[in-house]
Order: sequence, then structure tokens, then C-alpha cells
Amino acid sequence: MPVAVALDHLAALPADPPEGAVVAVGVRADRLADDAPGLDLDLARISGFEGKVGQLLVAATDAGTRLLVGLGKEPDPTTFRRIGASISKRAASQASLLVDLLGHLDGADRAAAAEALALGLILGTYRFGTYKPAPVGTALASISVVAKGGARSAGAVERGVAVATAVVLVRDLVNTPGGDLTPKAFAAEAAKVARDQGLEIEVLDQAAIRKAKLGGLLGVNRGSAQEPRFVKVVHRPEGRAKGKVALVGKGVTFDAGGLSIKTASGMEWMKTDMAGAATVLGAMSLVPTVAPKLEVTAYLPLTDNMLGPDATRVGDVLTARNGKTIEVLNTDAEGRLILADGLSLASEDEPDAIIDLATLTGAVVVALGERTAGLMTNHEALRDRVLAAAEAAGEAVWPLPLPDHLRKGLDSEVADLRNIGTGPYGGALTAALFLREFVGEVPWVHLDIAGPADTTSAWDENARGGTGFGVRTLVNLLSAWSKLPSA
Ligand code: BES
Ligand code: MN
Ligand code: ZN
Repeated sequence: MPVAVALDHLAALPADPPEGAVVAVGVRADRLADDAPGLDLDLARISGFEGKVGQLLVAATDAGTRLLVGLGKEPDPTTFRRIGASISKRAASQASLLVDLLGHLDGADRAAAAEALALGLILGTYRFGTYKPAPVGTALASISVVAKGGARSAGAVERGVAVATAVVLVRDLVNTPGGDLTPKAFAAEAAKVARDQGLEIEVLDQAAIRKAKLGGLLGVNRGSAQEPRFVKVVHRPEGRAKGKVALVGKGVTFDAGGLSIKTASGMEWMKTDMAGAATVLGAMSLVPTVAPKLEVTAYLPLTDNMLGPDATRVGDVLTARNGKTIEVLNTDAEGRLILADGLSLASEDEPDAIIDLATLTGAVVVALGERTAGLMTNHEALRDRVLAAAEAAGEAVWPLPLPDHLRKGLDSEVADLRNIGTGPYGGALTAALFLREFVGEVPWVHLDIAGPADTTSAWDENARGGTGFGVRTLVNLLSAWSKLPSA
């Protein structure tokens, strides 16, 4: 489902807003009376409205009925995403919405706020409608963001819409159940994105995956009636590239655990186990616009993790693309098996950096909670760039270590590696140490997004289900990289 709401930019609030339109205006905490002339201050006070960031109040003003939007005293541009989402959620059942709250911002701040606002406004309207569409005429159909500043503001709003569109794509993929979003169906979605955005795409089917010796992917797929796919999407810049980045995403379309089967409740959210691959695909859809001068390649191993009659047995040994042998002692540690192949292929292409995103471990959620991704790396400078990109995106990412003593736990008697460690602790770190075996010398960052990739209840601009976490971090990283002077 594409974004359901149309969002455009207006240079000024029309003197006569259309019938039935909700008009949202910004009110700073210290200027209630000035920003909303005619507002009954007693009514506002009794309603608890003080103009704090994100507070909302429908009230009569001299200009007519307005949705007053608290901006606090000095709103930070990034808070406009959250503010935007709260506005569009409040106006969800109205036909149209005019949003005028950037009046006191200028220059770069106004552009950043306009982008964040547009993004938040759209994401606040998100609902997963594939199986139960909203009844006709009940959903917000059009939003206008008012911002002076001409082309720059218009461009910022457009970019907000573009990023929101990518996030919505990721959410829809993450929310689509594993029985429908099979590896083949995911590959077809990737082909659509590639066609729309002018990206190169290569889809390996089972035979091609065998030929390419992707033993990890084949091993995980062995218990499934659905064929695996390996998707490669490439953006190749015109002229000399500013750099070359590889993005690798875990694409487990449903994770039952394999023979090391999950519990019933442990499986409940496992349709979302392809969020890494979806996020990478979402970011790829924006690369031609935000990072045109960079060569970016996505590597997406796709399979489900099932228990069919020929499923990988515990103790089986797989040979990954880079030749390393892996003793599978827990078939539920499958993400690292398919990433082993994805990372091997990525490192063979000798990029300047590899970033992988994966809903890899429950342990990272224990460590950091449900809203923060864990970052593990073999390269400090790359780590700092990714952290800066995440910070600017307002996405919570926290660095975790790769302790040497845990690496020994991956030594196997019969193969190069075991796919699980020996002790009960530090599971997110063990998983990342395993991945490190497949990147060679290439600078690499691993983002374990098992927590923030989905949410069991709505918060800020997120609805229950897939969040699209990581798209904005990748976009910021790649766009900054594309603007750097060539190395
Ligand atoms: N997809 C899961 C990780 C996961 C768990 C994501 C909870 C989101 C929420 C992954 O494939 C998995 O099962 N990991 C195991 C690894 C273990 C067997 C070493 C885990 O975390 O329990
Ligand atoms: Mn698993
Ligand atoms: Zn998994």
C-alpha cells in the first residue's frame, strides 16, 4: 500500500481555509496570547494546555476554530517529527489538514523542521491496510504544510515525503505475514522498487544460490517448502563514485526456529524477522535522490526458518560462501547463517564499508530495551559516522563491545565455527563476533535492530507493528557520505 495521504507545501496559510479543514497552528509556551489571538486563556489553563511540546487543544480563536499545537519555548527541529505525528493522529478522521507552525523558524532550522514535520505528519496517519482497509471517507486524505522560504522549504517537505514513503514501504513489508511475504514475494517487491527508482537488480533463485555456494542460506532454507532468494540491488552513479558502500539485511520472512523450535509466544512476532532486509530495501529506494554520487549495493538473503522433513538437523555442518564451515548447534540462530553468505559476498566486492541490519538476537533487547539498536563494529571511525547519522535521525543506537574472550566460545571441534556460543550471557555480542568472521578486512558496522524494528504499541510516530527503524540512519549516513570530497 502506498502512502494514503497527499502532502504538499504552501508558502502561506490561505486567508479562507477550505470548509471542514482542520487548521493547526503553533503556539509557543511563553506566547500563548500572541500566537493564538482571542484564545480564552482560562479555558486553555483548565484544559491543561500550556503550550508544552506536542500538547494539543482545539479552541476558538479570532481567526476561527484552531487546533493549537504546543511548541514549547525553543523547539528543536527534530521534535517536529513527533509533533507532526500527534497532529495527524488527532485529525485522523477529518478530510484535510493545514499545518502552520514553522513561522518563527528560519534557514537551515526551518528546512530541517519542515522535513521532520512532513515525515511525522505522514507517519502519524500510517495504518497497515492490506487486509482491512479503512472505511472510505474516514481517513485524512490531504495535508498542507505551511512554510515560507520558497524552493528550500518545498524541497525539505518533498524530502520528508520521500523518506516517509520509504518508511511506509518498510512497515508494510514488515507487517505482511510470512505466509504471504515469501522470499519470492519479497524479491518481487524489490524488483518493483528497483524498476521505480532506476536501480539495477539481480535475483538469485535456488539453482543460482547453489551455484554461488551460499551454504548458510541453503541450510536455513532446507526445512522450508518455499524456495530461498538472494537479492542484490545496485545504485551505480554516473561518473566516478564518491565511495562504495554495501548494505546487508537479514531477510528471514518467518522464523519458527527450525528444529530448535521457538515457543508459541516466541513466534508471535517472527513475521517481522525480515526487517533488516526491508530497511535496506527502503533505504535503497532513496539512494538515487539522497546519495546519487555513491555506489551502494544491497545484499538481501531471503528465506523462512521452518521445520520441514529435511530441515537442517542439529549438528549438521554448513559451508558458507567464504569457505568457512559452521556446526549448527541451534537452528534458531539462523540469522547469522544467512548473513554469513551476505557478508561474504559483500566483502568480495571490496566496498569502503559494510553496514548490516538484522533482527538478530533477543539478547540485544534484554541489554538495551525495545527502542534501541545495538551497534557492533570492527572499525571505530565508521562506528562514529553511523552513530552521528543515527543521532541526527533521532534513532536510538548504542555501541556494544566485541570481547575477545567470547570468541573462543565459537570454536568447534568439528568445524571452523559453532553457530552459538557456549555460555548463557552476551548473546548479542557472540552473534556479532560470529558475523565478524565473514567481513574480512572491510570496515563493518552491525546493527542489531531486534528491539526497535517493531513495537507492540504505538508511540511517537510509530504504530503497532513494523516501525521502519533504521531507514533514516542509513539515509543520513549515505547522504553525508555522498557529499564528502572523494577519497
Ligand atoms: N529472530 C530471532 C531474534 C529475535 C528475538 C528477534 C526476539 C526479535 C525478537 C533470532 O533468529 C533468534 O532466534 N535468535 C536466538 C539466538 C539464540 C538461539 C543463540 C535468540 O536470540 O534467542
Ligand atoms: Mn531464530
Ligand atoms: Zn531470526
